[in-house]
Amino acid sequence: MTYENILVERPAEGVGLVKLNQRRTFNSLTGPLMDELMSALETMDRDDAIGCLVITGVDRAFAAGADIKEMAGASPVEMMNKAFIARWERLRNIRKPVIAAVSGYALGGGCELALACDMIIASDTAVFGQPEINLGVIPGAGGTQRLARTIGKALTMEMVLNDRRLSAEEAERFGLVNRVAPVDEYLDVAITLAAEIAARAPVAVRLAKDAVNMALETSLSAGLAYERNHFYALFATADQKEGMAAFLDKRKPEWQGK
Ligand code: CAA
Repeated sequence: MTYENILVERPAEGVGLVKLNQRRTFNSLTGPLMDELMSALETMDRDDAIGCLVITGVDRAFAAGADIKEMAGASPVEMMNKAFIARWERLRNIRKPVIAAVSGYALGGGCELALACDMIIASDTAVFGQPEINLGVIPGAGGTQRLARTIGKALTMEMVLNDRRLSAEEAERFGLVNRVAPVDEYLDVAITLAAEIAARAPVAVRLAKDAVNMALETSLSAGLAYERNHFYALFATADQKEGMAAFLDKRKPEWQGK
């Protein structure tokens, strides 16, 4: 499949990379770009040769948010009818881990897109912000919810109410990003992390992601039961038998993904 707004690559074994590639507009997240992104992610999610996905942008911008030109004149009904934000939800259904490799601006929907990924590797030039208040609106793709759950209420309020931006170093300190790397290395760091995860037991990786995400959705007792069920279910896989046998034999396991 050919895309106009993104580039799709296989930079390392087991890794699928999607690069948002609208440099002139700082990767404003137009409808066509988001449709291509979701379609590329879903294709990779179905590909057995890929175990972990990376989304990145260009060095000066991961993404500058939803496209303001597209929505400036819209009515609420038009926004709903064209599923302006609802299409973003498709990211939640990707079963394989998704890493955001963020450099430059991650503003508005760009920050929310990174937050919707499972992990974030940032370049030291990254800037995270929710500037929607300057446009007379609020975040619409998860910013208020995911930020509050990640960095807490006080700082989220400041970001959402008063356009407080976080540098890469602050984002790391507040637990928004996993790691910060120099701008000429952050993508390699993300790809290396993705390749390491892709080399692990695939079914366990998928259930691990699902269980961690459940922690943000449910009560502790329901979450513990959910985790325990996934743990027991993994004893039905060949990879559990292989992983434990390999440990006892003092050798490297060979995963089958079954
Ligand atoms: N939508 C549409 N176009 C955008 C855009 C966006 N989000 N961000 C940048 N662009 C376009 C500009 O309109 C401009 O296009 P033209 O050359 O055709 O005029 C081009 O990209 C370059 O932008 P600037 O001239 O502004 O470049 P700059 O270096 O001065 O500033 C920037 C760069 C800081 C990213 C600035 O463009 C900016 O603040 N962008 C908007 C950020 C924003 O408000 N994001 C939130 C959007 S709303 C949202 O995301 C809702 C949601 O929750 C889903």
